[in-house]
This record gives sequence, C-alpha cells and structure tokens, in this order.
Amino acid sequence: MTKEFKRYLVTSALPYANGPVHIGHLAGVYVPSDIYVRYLRLRGRDVVWVCGSDEHGVPITIKARKEGVSPQQVVDRYHELIKDSFERLGISFDIYSRTSSAVHAETASEFFRKLYDEGKFIEKTSMQYYDEEAGTFLADRYIVGTCPKCGNDRAYGDQCEMCGSTLSPDELIEPHSAVSGSVPVKRETKHWYLPLDRYEGFLCEWILDGHKEWKSNVYGQCKSWLDGGLQPRAVSRDLDWGIPVPVEGAEGKVLYVWFDAPIGYISATKELTPDWERYWKSEDTKMVHFIGKDNIVFHCIVFPSMLAAHGGYILPDNVPANEFLNLEGDKISTSRNWAVWLHEYLDEFPGKEDVLRYVLCANAPETKDNDFTWKDFQARNNNELVAVLGNFVNRALVLTQKYYDGVVPACGELDAYDRETLAELGGIKASLENNIETYHFREALKDAMNAARIGNKYLADTEPWKLVKTDPERVGTILHTALQIAANTSIAIEPFMPFTARKIRDMLAVGELGWEQLGSTDLVAAGHRIAKPELLFEKIEDEAIRRQLDKLVAAKEANAAAENTQNVEKQKDNVSFDEFGRMDIRVSTILAAEKVAKTKKLLKLTVDTGIDRREIVSGIAEHFAPEELVGRQVLVLVNLAPRELKGILSNGMILMAEDAGGKLRLLGPDERTMNGAVVG
Ligand code: 2FM
Ligand code: ZN
Repeated sequence: MTKEFKRYLVTSALPYANGPVHIGHLAGVYVPSDIYVRYLRLRGRDVVWVCGSDEHGVPITIKARKEGVSPQQVVDRYHELIKDSFERLGISFDIYSRTSSAVHAETASEFFRKLYDEGKFIEKTSMQYYDEEAGTFLADRYIVGTCPKCGNDRAYGDQCEMCGSTLSPDELIEPHSAVSGSVPVKRETKHWYLPLDRYEGFLCEWILDGHKEWKSNVYGQCKSWLDGGLQPRAVSRDLDWGIPVPVEGAEGKVLYVWFDAPIGYISATKELTPDWERYWKSEDTKMVHFIGKDNIVFHCIVFPSMLAAHGGYILPDNVPANEFLNLEGDKISTSRNWAVWLHEYLDEFPGKEDVLRYVLCANAPETKDNDFTWKDFQARNNNELVAVLGNFVNRALVLTQKYYDGVVPACGELDAYDRETLAELGGIKASLENNIETYHFREALKDAMNAARIGNKYLADTEPWKLVKTDPERVGTILHTALQIAANTSIAIEPFMPFTARKIRDMLAVGELGWEQLGSTDLVAAGHRIAKPELLFEKIEDEAIRRQLDKLVAAKEANAAAENTQNVEKQKDNVSFDEFGRMDIRVSTILAAEKVAKTKKLLKLTVDTGIDRREIVSGIAEHFAPEELVGRQVLVLVNLAPRELKGILSNGMILMAEDAGGKLRLLGPDERTMNGAVVG
C-alpha cells in the first residue's frame, strides 16, 4: 500500500556557482522538478521547493584563480545569473538561496558540531598530496592525473569525467597539481571522516529492502556501492574557501563541499519559513530529491547517513535521478563551452521559454543518456507545438471569432462522437496523474499533448468550416465542444508549459482553472466572450538553427586551438644572437621534385637558392606529391653541412612547420620574392 503524505518537500540539486546553467542541468533536474511541483501546487498540495547556488568547493576556487578574482566575486556573479535565468524560464522555486549565506554557515556548522560532539566522526591523520610551489594541499579537482580505470589522462582527484568513476587522489597515475602543474609531494594532515561503513546495515534495509520502486539506475548504483562495501569519507578539506571546521585545532580547514551542500536544502527551508521543521522532521512529509546521476551516491548514501547520524530528520521518499543529456552527439562540457547556455537561449529566442521546456521534457534522459540536437528542437517546435497544439487552439478560437463574433455558442445536442471525444479527457487526467507521480515526465507530456491531438482530430473530423452554411446549429455545438477541449488542454499542459497555458486561458478569458477541473465539459460557458486570438507558437526557420550550429562549430574550433596550445612542444634552450646569425636562410624556389627510388619518405628536390642551383633530399614524400611542390618558394637553410642520403648529396634543408598532429606545412615569403633573399 502506498503511504499517504500530508505535505511535500522537494529539493533540486544546488548548481555550482562557477558557470551558467545549461540545457543538461535543465533536462536532468530543473525542468522535471518544476513540472512535479507545479502539478502538486495545481492539485492544492502543501509543498515547498528549495534550491540555491552551491558556492563552495574546488570548482569555484579554480575558476577564481583562472580569472584572477576572489571566489566571492565568482559566486556573486554566477549566483545572480543563474537565479535570474531560472526565473525567466519559469522555474518556480519557493526559494533560490545560496550556500555562502549566514543561515547556511550556521546550520552546517551546528550540524557538524553535533556529530562531532556525539563522537560520530573518526579523526585521522594521513599523508596527502601537497603542492610545494603553490603552498596548498591538493584534494579533489586540484589534482589531475591518469585514470586507473580508463586511461583518461585528465582525470580529477575525485572523479574521472570520461568513465564516470569516483576516484581518490591516491589512485591517479602520474598525478600533478592543477594549480601549478608541478609534481606534488606527500605531507601529513588531519581530517574528520564520516564512517559510512557503520551505516551499511541501515542503508541496505532502507534502500535495498525498502525502496525497490526507485528508478533502476538509482537503485542499481546504490546496490553496487553497498555490495562493494562503504569506506569512511573525509568531511573536511585543507582549503581557504568554505565553512570553517567549527572545532579547535582546525585552523585552515573547511567543511568538504559535499558535507555542507546538501545541508543547504535545510538552510534554504529555514530561510523560507519559520515552520521549516514541519517539513524536515515529520514522517508525514514526502521528501523528493531531484538530481543528475553523478549525484546519486551523495543523495542516497552520504546525505542519508549524515541525516541518520544526526537524528530527527526524515529521509527522501524518492531520488528520481536522470541520466545525462548530450549535445549534438558530444558530452556537454562547461569548460569546453560545449553547451546551450540558458541565459543565451533566453536572449536569442525571446518568448520561446515553453519551447525549450517542451523539447527538454520530451527528450529528457529519464532512462538513458539522450541527445539534444538543434534539428530535433526545430522539428518538435514546427511539427508538434505549431502543428498540433498551436493549430488546434488557434482554429477553435479563430472560428469562434469568425462565426460567432467571439461569443461562445450554445451547446446543442451532443452526438456519440462528441461524447466519446469529451470522455477521452477524463482518461488523460488519470494517466497524467499516474505518470507525474511516478516521475515519468516524458509520458506525462505525451498525455498532456493528447488533449490537443484530440482537439485537432475533432475539428478535422467534424469540419465546421464546411458545415457552417448548411447546419449552423451543429457548428455551434462543435465549437462549444472544441473550446471545452482547449480549456482542458490549458490545464493539462500547465505543469509543462506554464506560459502557454496562461496564454490559452487569457484568450479564453476564463481566469484560473484548477487541476480537478481537468475532464470537465463546462469550463467555458455559452454566451461568454473570448479575447482576440493570437498565435501560440511560430515556426522556427532554418536560419535560426544554422546560427546555433555555427556557434557550436566556433566552440569546437576554439577547443581544438586550445588543445593545440596545450600540445605545443616546450621551448628549446636559448641561443645567442651570434649563434642564430651563423644560420644562413634564403628564399628559394623548387624547380623539380622526384621520389627517391626504393624509399617511402624521401624526395629529391632541385632548388634555386639565388646563390646556386642545388639538390636537397627531404623526408617529406608522405606529405607532398612532387608535382605540388614545383614552383613553390620556400625557405632553405643553405649552410647546413652537406650529407649523403641514398647516394645523393643533400645540400641544405627545406624549413617546415610541424603541428602537434604531425602535419607539415611549407614556409615561404607571403609574396613572391627574389631567390637568395636573406631571412633573419
Ligand atoms: O553536482 C553539482 O552540481 C553539485 N553542486 C550538486 C550539489 S547538490 C546538493 F547536495 F547540494
Ligand atoms: Zn576513467
């Protein structure tokens, strides 16, 4: 039997304030949780929804160092940007707080202190990596190296983003500091650990026995952690950014970001309402954590163990974690700028908030990683929102305007088809409720869109525009029915597309409609005057999509350029001016080129150096065809000591540039120049 709850506490992962929010965050966490909460509110449930910026931890300090500003400046900037863009998309948190708030520092410190006083931590001294150049310990993302599981040479000290493995700095092969690049040494340091092994029994009983209904990806990850056996986890770090560890002898140490961040859910609720304990400390509350799959261990294993250790708090009833959304076939990445940033989308597609919400829900990575493509975005807008939802609502309203001057016609006698059509709306309600309450938001969206599909089909089948001359009374009934379906559609889509739902209700001039009215056939009364119809959606043209794809191509090119910079060979030792001056480099023209017999790599080149004509043997046969060289002007080191290669005396060297991928380019003057011109 499913438990009846009196109230809901919904949390959404606190985004790191080290960058803007992108479509991956939205599809994984914020769009589904907004749908869920809007639905609960529509049903009149007692619900609070909390979120905020995660402002501690190494990602923030790394960003600050890179930009040469303070961590506080970084989080101030991104907190505002994230908060504002969420609001613009209609993400309707009850509070969007931040972990640098005073309430949070106090809440997290008290939480730590209670566990500390009750002996729930282990205090341990160990040897940890230390960067002598930067004078800092290297935890988490401050240390990089090769992943022992997949060989990725850019794995972090806490995680490999390539294979998703959780790592510790000690597991990295050839570790080096992300701060200075230097090879670290080991130094002794003291930290506090939460002995997760002591909570294994409780977690197995609570999750493995008690929550078999959780999504298989979530349940599966928990099972694999628990089967593998849990280890004590450090809850403090040697850092100068974070909440100070509130005990004596802990100078220079702060709470680990994953210790303080989930407590942020509690602090945000405290900030929201003096009644916060009613939500956090009553078994009548259903708590649901919305997160991405990389956060499962923290929300299902670590935070529940912290809550259990503290005592008095409820545990989540469900943690409907999503998989990841990719972009045009590649993993979304903040550092590589491979993303669709929410604030940019909102600026570039004004008035299309619901289009993004719709596409991200329709394509949400609920059971597996999914791909966002701009072509799919365009197709869903043009073929589903414009052609189905927009078309139906517009037809119903425009025909009412045209035939009845905007006054809702009376409903005559309903025929069997009318009744069948209206009955389908009741079925939509039941299915929507079931799908939303079991976190199947993609299916739920299909249910909601079915209301519009039903309406579209109804008008196409009944063809009021043909009947208007012969049977005006029947047309009145058809449009009356179509307007009821339109009003129902506005209720069904409200959690998913709140801006559009409001537009429909404004055009119908019906005011607020509650969830319980979904399925009713008397939402718009006969004789009531509707407002002027306007289009709900407009077609997105190829040009707009091309602009977005061009942006991504530019990001790829910038990444490739940055990658090349990283791969550039180190500078050689200095040479003196005299040493350089001894090299005689001349502009020369290649007069002839032929392959050297029985070799793969060698070409024999005849060049005019301006001084003479000579032969040079060059190892470039795999890069250039002889005929493409003839006539080219190149630079030749003419006083390189001659040497014999395959029986030919080579008298100089053609200068070339070789990139990190081994590609060769000839070098020459930018305009035709006399042979023999001196380079230097
Ligand atoms: O993965 C992240 O982006 C984290 N900032 C999520 C934190 S969720 C919570 F526990 F605060
Ligand atoms: Zn890996």
